[in-house]
Order: sequence, then structure tokens, then C-alpha cells
Amino acid sequence: MLLGVNIDHIAVLREARKINDPNPIDALGICKLSGADQITIHLREDRRHINDTDAKNIIQLSPLPVNLECSINDDIIDIVCQLKPMRATLVPENRDEVTTEGGLDVKNNFDKIKKVVQKLHDHEIEVSLFIDPYKEAIGLSKELEVEWIELHTGSYANIYAMLNLNLNNSAHSIKELELSKAELKELLKISLNTLKTSSKEAKKLGLKVAAGHGLNYQNVKPIASIKAISELNIGQSIIARSVFTGLKEAIVSMKTLVQEK
Ligand code: PXP
Repeated sequence: MLLGVNIDHIAVLREARKINDPNPIDALGICKLSGADQITIHLREDRRHINDTDAKNIIQLSPLPVNLECSINDDIIDIVCQLKPMRATLVPENRDEVTTEGGLDVKNNFDKIKKVVQKLHDHEIEVSLFIDPYKEAIGLSKELEVEWIELHTGSYANIYAMLNLNLNNSAHSIKELELSKAELKELLKISLNTLKTSSKEAKKLGLKVAAGHGLNYQNVKPIASIKAISELNIGQSIIARSVFTGLKEAIVSMKTLVQEK
């Protein structure tokens, strides 16, 4: 299982003071030495963490391939084409959200996404679509001729948190709050099965399958054991742990978990 480490949160900490420290560039070598396979960053329209200079420097200096998440906004795509990361992952973006909330609405944005995919391919950038795990989105992704899809695991992570950590609020949704443990267990099973079926379906169509969002040291193993998924992109939990253990230890622990059979 490949591990992409999302280093946006290093820039979040820097932006809390609007100074130069900590610098996400300093994470690149540590990520590589700790066994990460990829650097993931998100150049948001509001530049709330990673900015254009970060993105440029990270892409130029990273010893690992860079996966750049971005919206389908024309100005952003122009920048991405100049930056030339190895891969662009197209995500929906909403200025008021705390983090990416759902998958791309591939159906309603099909024509726009098609143009964006073509443009990125013209610039020799491979493309991934961040989608919710359902059949129609997978079929449309295939039609869009992308190399990758990334399945949104946020819903799985929310249900897992409700069930196992006794959280009564979650970052993304509170609709499961009224449910009993037995109902949550059933929902978790369904959610995991949906991810399994979707990834299998996508792989069968020839798509490479990544997954991510809300994955952490507690909930990652069932996702890492899904055979059709070949890469996980994880940010918040790794950077959060690194505050206490250092980045190297946080990445090594996650990499060990996702590789265990
Ligand atoms: N994958 C995608 C497409 C994302 O948008 C994000 C969040 O930036 C992640 C993975 C990582 O999510 P988390 O920080 O919850 O691990």
C-alpha cells in the first residue's frame, strides 16, 4: 500500500502566525526517509495554507512524486499546468468548508471536468478524481479517461468515530447521531462494503484507486486491507501525531499500519 502524506497542515500552523515557520519544504526529506511514497498538497482557491510559492518549491524540490489537489476553477488549473506536478487530484471546493466535504459531482460537471482533464493531460499531468464511492461516479470517471480515482473515506471515518470513540460530534456530519451502536455497526459495515465494491469495480475498469479523508491510526486498517486500493492519502492524523512524536515516527507508524496484513 502506497502512502501519500498530506503536508498542508504544516502550512496551517505557519499561517496561524503568518511567518515563515514551520516551512512545509522541511518535511520533504523526512517524508522520504520515513517511508512515505508521495507528497500530497492542496492549493486552495483561498490559499488558506499552501500558497503558490510553497507549491512551486515543493514540486521542484520534492524527492517524492507530488500529488496536487485542486478545484476545477480555470485560474487554478492554469497555475497547475505551469507547476506540472506528477498528478492533479480534482476536488470540489467550497470556501466556507473546514475541509473537502464531499466527492466531485462528476455528473453535473462532466463537460467542464472533461476540458480540465484534457488540458492537464496536454501538460503531461496525470489526473485523479476525488469521488464518493458509487457506481455512476466510477463509470463517469472511466469515461473521462482519468488514470486515477480517489475514493472519499470521510463517511466511513465519521461512522467509525461515532462508534468507537464515543464522539458526539464530527467534523463533517451529525446525521448518524441518533443511531444506536448496533445501527452504527451496520452502517460501518455497509460503508466499508461500499468502498470495497467501488474500488473493485473501478479497478476492473482499469482505473487506479486511491482513498483518503479522515483516515487515522485507529480506523485505517480495514481500508488498507482492501485489495483494489493501492494508495492512501493521509494528512490530519499524521501531522497531529507528529506534534508529539516528531514527523518521522508519525509516518513510520502509519506506513507500518497500512502495510500490515
Ligand atoms: N485526500 C483528499 C482528496 C483530500 O482533500 C484530503 C484533505 O485535504 C485528504 C486526502 C487528507 O485528508 P485528512 O487530512 O483527513 O487525512
